[in-house]
Amino acid sequence: MATSWNGSAEESHMTLITALAFTVLWLLWSISSYFRCRNRLPLPPGSFGFPVIGQTVEHLLALRTADGIRQWMQKQVDRHGPLFRFRFVGYPMVMMSQPEGNKFIFQNEGLSNHIFWPSHISTMFGPHAVITQSGERHKLVRRHLNRFFDRTAMSRYIHGVNRNAIRHFTNHWQGKEQLVALDIINFFTGSCVWNLALSLEEGPLIVTLALTIFYIAKNPHVYEQILHMENGLTMEDISAMKYTWGAIQETLRLHPVLTGSYRKTVTDLEYEGYHIPKDWLFNWNSQHSHYNPKYFKDPFKFDPSRWEKRPPPFTYLPFGGGVHLCLGYEFARMEMLIFIHHLV
Ligand code: HEM
Repeated sequence: MATSWNGSAEESHMTLITALAFTVLWLLWSISSYFRCRNRLPLPPGSFGFPVIGQTVEHLLALRTADGIRQWMQKQVDRHGPLFRFRFVGYPMVMMSQPEGNKFIFQNEGLSNHIFWPSHISTMFGPHAVITQSGERHKLVRRHLNRFFDRTAMSRYIHGVNRNAIRHFTNHWQGKEQLVALDIINFFTGSCVWNLALSLEEGPLIVTLALTIFYIAKNPHVYEQILHMENGLTMEDISAMKYTWGAIQETLRLHPVLTGSYRKTVTDLEYEGYHIPKDWLFNWNSQHSHYNPKYFKDPFKFDPSRWEKRPPPFTYLPFGGGVHLCLGYEFARMEMLIFIHHLV
């Protein structure tokens, strides 16, 4: 009897002590969150929509086309201003519509480096792809890969790419009255990238080349200009193909293959008087500036000559920016220029 009385007294003591400990912890947590909130700046304007899914569905639907995402962004900008929050695949996200916002993402090293992809996309790239790596691991992989993709490396590939282009046009284009450009270009870019032993990212190249051919065909004055202005194939000649490069840049301005992507905050951040907590996502996006008449006069017009002048920084982002800037930029540029050179 005595043992059981002692046992239940001990149990009540333990319950009391546990309850007290929880109360003290709860009080400490409440006091510290009160002071954290009091010092904290407001969150960016916007709304999180439905719990968990937020605006995932409408954002994904908008992302299906460049027009769709541009119109969706404009609607949000009109409602909340140039910087706004929403919820995407369960994550709170801040979208930057202005070049200053893109600059903040790309120049803040911690943020720029921490890339985020929705799981279905990162599975598609594979666990070891450089584009899915963050932090020190990304730095290491990128350092090793850089030497295969810089300008010096391009001078080693130029003759191979040129030979491929000549073979390609002889085998697939000569003597044909009609061709499906997208299928045929696939052979060319595929063989070049295979020759580089990479088998990476030829998708954006094929689409950009097909669209550039479409615009050149639709604008005979552009065809004439290219025909008269470009005629060589050393690295110097490639650098001198400014008008053709203008036509490709213009295609990428109107139809960037990737309109934007995501970065994840690894610490709390402050931007433009707003508090952005750790583990939120940032979305850099080119659509608002690529079609903005403030940066590109008459933005819906295909005009390669506008590239005689550089646009303001962070307004033109078809190859992204910061530490994840497209690794294949120089290669893509060289390959597309050689292709158009042989085409015209
Ligand atoms: C017109 C052609 C291309 C376009 C428009 C393009 C666009 C892009 C963009 C926007 C990114 C940045 C992604 C981000 O910040 O989230 C990127 C990254 C990347 N691109 Fe390209 N790309 C093109 C061609 C290529 C080619 C031909 C290769 C390889 C030979 C390539 C290899 C890569 C790699 C490896 C990354 C990831 C870099 C990193 O995460 O450090 N790209 N590309």
